[in-house]
Amino acid sequence: MQVILNPQNQLILKVNNMKSILFEKVRIGKTVLKNRIFMSAAASYNGTTEGDIDYSDPILHFDISNGGCALIPTGGVSGIHPRGRSNATRPMLNSDERIPSFKKFADKIHKGGALAILQMTHGGACAAAYQFSIGNRPLSPSFYMKNQKKGFKKENIENCQASEQEIFELISAFGDAAVRAKKANFDGIQIHAAHDSLLSQWFSTLYNLRTDSWGGNVKNRCRLHCEILKEIKNKTGNEFLTVLKLGIEDSLPGGTKAEEGIEASAIIASQGNTDIIEISQGLQDITDMNSTSMKPNINSLDKEAYYRDWTKRVKSRIKHNALVVMQGGLRTPSLMEEIIENGEADFVSMCRPYIREPGIVNRWISGNMSKAACTSCNQCAFNHVFKGMRLKCIFNKD
Ligand SMILES: Cc1cc2nc3c(=O)[nH]c(=O)nc-3n(C[C@H](O)[C@H](O)[C@H](O)COP(=O)(O)O)c2cc1C
Repeated sequence: MQVILNPQNQLILKVNNMKSILFEKVRIGKTVLKNRIFMSAAASYNGTTEGDIDYSDPILHFDISNGGCALIPTGGVSGIHPRGRSNATRPMLNSDERIPSFKKFADKIHKGGALAILQMTHGGACAAAYQFSIGNRPLSPSFYMKNQKKGFKKENIENCQASEQEIFELISAFGDAAVRAKKANFDGIQIHAAHDSLLSQWFSTLYNLRTDSWGGNVKNRCRLHCEILKEIKNKTGNEFLTVLKLGIEDSLPGGTKAEEGIEASAIIASQGNTDIIEISQGLQDITDMNSTSMKPNINSLDKEAYYRDWTKRVKSRIKHNALVVMQGGLRTPSLMEEIIENGEADFVSMCRPYIREPGIVNRWISGNMSKAACTSCNQCAFNHVFKGMRLKCIFNKD
């Protein structure tokens, strides 16, 4: 067995007689990941009005844990801050009263053998419609955004620019929610800074037109990410995993470019408060699924690994300051092995394939290494989750 220790105390155990590099154990501090195959977050809209996780429908994540996956995040939990919830069915971890319901989730994930991670998100300007409907002011990086998608008119977001005091409250709220996640037995948190999240908005000059030290150059636009991660490490300690899902490039005209996202990953990782970075899309145009993280019809090898270039560049730029996850259209195990063996990423991750085959990792471990059955038709999203129904593949019976 070969042992590699990097400056972050992330220990990689290389077991030479393993069938596949994908099934190697990796240790980060005291936490052991049983293999290199993660799940990418899938919202399942399973929250009660109060924000507890609703267990009345079966939760697919538990089958995925039983199925051999090493690390499972919740879907986005947006109510870690009072103005972060983007709809009335999003789970919230905004008070200690929610801890028992979240603890049940983490404990069930652990029973299956995976690590449980809480994905923390904030809707920012994209939560405007729901926040206005409950009489709240949404929270946005700027008074004005260049991108007027989703019908957010200028007058709707006036007076929504976060003041410096509100920024510090927000940072503190992320830290407090991480403490609750730790009390609820989660192994760590994932900060959602991709897609339409507040942190994605904050990093993009389409939404962030600030001229103070929270806007402007790349370093200032990712200062909020750095401060949140620092707060979480300070409040939860070194052993509690911090994962960042980072949007590298916007798919909207005039938005963030890949060079800026890669530079941000290096700045954030160099602070030493991020254990793992998962690479994804920045702001996306949801009228064109090809511009989102859920690209459709991944039915040939050349369409797979659509964030390979960004992930490789992040990995070589941040060196050993954090471990890196490649996700986005990964379906074929031999391709995933090549990616890890080439040092392009430390881990791989999938979302839609688990919805079709929750036991896919155990299938591969047992020797049946044929590619994922998922056709990336996105009906799990359009026909289920986006309609407020539970996470499910339309090809599966129950
Ligand atoms: C039904 C569904 C719900 C999703 N919910 C989230 C979410 O809550 N947070 C997040 O970061 N990404 C979410 N995603 C995006 C996935 O995490 C992932 O980035 C994307 O599906 C690409 O991976 P894949 O090709 O393996 O599916 C969701 C995707 C799907 C299909």
